[in-house]
Amino acid sequence: MRDELKYLSGFGNEFSSEDERWPGSLPPGQNSPQRCPRGLYAEQLSGTAFTCGRADNRRSWLYRARPSVCHGPFEPVADESGPEHLTDDWDRTPPNPNQLRWKPFEVPTRQDTDEVDFVRGLHTICGAGDPRARAGLAVHVYLCNASMRRKALYNSDGDFLIVPQLGPLLITTEFGRMRVESNEICVVQRGMRFSVKVYGPSRGYILEVYDNHFQLPNLGPIGANGLANPRDFLTPTAHYEDDDEDEVNDYLIINKYQGRLFRAAQRHSPYDVVAWHGNYVPYKYNLERFMVINSVSFDHCDPSIFTVLTCPSDKPGTAIADFVIFPPRWSVQEHTFRPPYYHRNCMSEFMGLIRGSYEAKDREGFQPGGASLHSMMTPHGPDAACYEAASGQAELRPERVADGTQAFMFETYYGLAVTEWALRGCQKLDPKYQDCWRGLKKNFKTTEK
Ligand SMILES: [Fe+2]
Repeated sequence: MRDELKYLSGFGNEFSSEDERWPGSLPPGQNSPQRCPRGLYAEQLSGTAFTCGRADNRRSWLYRARPSVCHGPFEPVADESGPEHLTDDWDRTPPNPNQLRWKPFEVPTRQDTDEVDFVRGLHTICGAGDPRARAGLAVHVYLCNASMRRKALYNSDGDFLIVPQLGPLLITTEFGRMRVESNEICVVQRGMRFSVKVYGPSRGYILEVYDNHFQLPNLGPIGANGLANPRDFLTPTAHYEDDDEDEVNDYLIINKYQGRLFRAAQRHSPYDVVAWHGNYVPYKYNLERFMVINSVSFDHCDPSIFTVLTCPSDKPGTAIADFVIFPPRWSVQEHTFRPPYYHRNCMSEFMGLIRGSYEAKDREGFQPGGASLHSMMTPHGPDAACYEAASGQAELRPERVADGTQAFMFETYYGLAVTEWALRGCQKLDPKYQDCWRGLKKNFKTTEK
């Protein structure tokens, strides 16, 4: 399906957009005139503190048929915030330092169960911290088979970086619509209302950060270009949705607030924004556009060369979370063990697979829609078969790596707790994961070089 929606190109830009049907809806020269054009209400959405430095300040002005405040009271959503699914209670399970790997998470089928939309389909895998303290993150998967109908979600706790793995998503936001295919990602930031339409069984991964926002990594000696280029990030254009004629069915606004879901009813669509301007916006990015940097001489570079987006902490060079991909590329290093090295990391590494087969893990054990977690200081590296093949007599010719494959990593400086659902509820945890390293032999010889 072709994406025929219109987008604005760039990362962190000051954008402005009007629904094409009503030009002149943005007030010229000021944000909050006594009377906005066409009788619209002006509303600011702040993504950073008012007083945040200019380089980091994020906010947008929305011009809408009604202000967002026109809704009923928030009430807890009992069925969609069950402790086994969406949680930020990291003390419910004991710490688990093991290498963990999951088979593909099961997508509910319409034969087996009711309709499960994006909100009901959210399941937390692991995380740390507390959204009340604006510190930490969570990793979720969504497993759904139905579109959100007259239902919008917004996250008061943080930003969502969404990685579709199975099935395209049509995401309607207050800023407009974006279509996100597998091998694309999108970011919907704190407070932005959005609804997800699916076209069949759908699965994907979500990185939620409770503090700061994603930005492009610094390039250092790489120079002014490379990795994810700013112009390849696409932001929706204003699209007004008028459904005032539906006086019967409420529109549910779901608010993820302090780890729980709440709902409030209103009569009208929250997507009643006719025009907007600002630099606090949702966006998407096609991972095929990533310009890969790698060693062209020897040794295996650290995976930070594959960073698409980073959410920095207050500690320079250290991320709350990085989004890293392992894209198709050439491998040309000489006299080098080319797969990833064995290592122990002071960061925690959650990996997922969008498609294909990742070069350092066996094809059966790490499948698209599955995952692995290597927590801080937990050793990991290529399995025995991969080591044997790469360190053996293989000729080190230039070769393509990861064609048809897209693996990714959420890397964080937090220690992660794994949820009850991920350990037991999902029934996908692979009890035999550690066997993949059992075959690593002692090759050390004292008698020869
Ligand atoms: Fe690693």
